[in-house]
Amino acid sequence: MSEIVPGLEGIFVAKTRTSRVDGEAGELTIGGFPVERLAPAASFEEVVFLLWEGRLPTASEYRTLRNDLAARRALPAETLPLLRRAAQRSLHPMDALRIGAATLSLSDEDPLANSRGANTERARTLIAAFPTLVAAYAQLCAGKNPVEPDPMLGHAANYLQMLNGAPATAETVRALETYLNTVVDHGMNASTFASRVIVSTRSDMTSAVVGSIGALKGPLHGGAPGPALDMVFEIQKRAQISGQPIAEEARRWAEKAITAGERIMGFGHRVYKVRDPRAEVLGAAAARLFADREDAALYRDARTVETELRSTLARLKPTHRLETNVEFYTALVLHGIGLPANLFSPTFAISRVGGWTAHVLEQIDDDRLIRPRAMYVGEFDRPWTPIEER
Ligand SMILES: CC(C)(COP(=O)(O)OP(=O)(O)OC[C@H]1O[C@@H](n2cnc3c(N)ncnc32)[C@H](O)[C@@H]1OP(=O)(O)O)[C@@H](O)C(=O)NCCC(=O)NCCS
Repeated sequence: MSEIVPGLEGIFVAKTRTSRVDGEAGELTIGGFPVERLAPAASFEEVVFLLWEGRLPTASEYRTLRNDLAARRALPAETLPLLRRAAQRSLHPMDALRIGAATLSLSDEDPLANSRGANTERARTLIAAFPTLVAAYAQLCAGKNPVEPDPMLGHAANYLQMLNGAPATAETVRALETYLNTVVDHGMNASTFASRVIVSTRSDMTSAVVGSIGALKGPLHGGAPGPALDMVFEIQKRAQISGQPIAEEARRWAEKAITAGERIMGFGHRVYKVRDPRAEVLGAAAARLFADREDAALYRDARTVETELRSTLARLKPTHRLETNVEFYTALVLHGIGLPANLFSPTFAISRVGGWTAHVLEQIDDDRLIRPRAMYVGEFDRPWTPIEER
């Protein structure tokens, strides 16, 4: 093939059993399950097992994995001083996570081993320690001391407890777990591809995952939930000031933004041409989370805003199929759980590391160097000019 496919769009680069994205039908399959069935029912540990082993765990396998992950939550002694320094410099939480994840090699029992088994051990440590890293950094940024992990709690409940310094309610744990399960894997996305490229050189799991954190940090890779939520707040505020119904304000806001050539955050997707199925799952999770809460109006307003924005986009951009994407309800769920917007991306990483590690194990099994070509468009046969004559 001598043609360049920009962004490798539509190119298959690997076989996987982890997930399948059908953009035309709006379907996401994770480990054989429709995301709608898996995400609200499973614990995160069960989903990780599913991705790694290709089947659900038995009760005793589940307990073993849960206990093993719980036992690996502590950070190496050297990590906290580094996170403290990062907090002093107000680094982005994704940078703090990248720095912290790299230090996990310090607790590696056999750092030079590179068997599949050694890399599986690293995968377990990475998954277990991500919430500790993110929560510790959040506490340090707030001028507090990190909260110790609680080995009695599951992955999601422990993360929330370390973030808040208090036990989380069953509803918030369920909502977080549904979120983590929903976004754990999504075909050959950029950060997953980065992991596979790195480990295809027979590098190791930790190196691959650290590279993926770098890829996930970029705003084109799922960085829209914060702005999507800001938009709902802004429309709410305008409706309060004008006294107009929120639907009216949303329509006006969207018309102005689209006419000015702006993009509406939380809408449109490179692969999905219909409503992102993850928006469906997270919309339902938000509905359950906000039911009977004092701020239930936020959920109702977000639904109204979504409806108006969809119809305004369809009217003003009739040739494009711009539907709600995962970010719109991600914002609502994570905000409803009590997370500040700067923790949305690292919380995404806490989930996606499940997918990265599963892909890395698949790539180790494939053992094929990923090495595409670049089309040279430079000059040939240039004469050499000594430096003093240039
Ligand atoms: C996600 C996204 C980058 C995918 O873009 P894409 O499929 O590559 O689409 P393109 O960038 O080629 O845009 C195609 C057209 O749709 C328009 N469009 C795409 N998303 C839009 C949006 N959210 N709001 C308004 N217009 C949008 C573009 O302006 C363009 O219009 P034009 O042809 O008249 O110039 C894009 O939809 C977007 O920027 N969405 C908002 C950010 C967001 O929610 N990101 C999270 C994704 S999970």
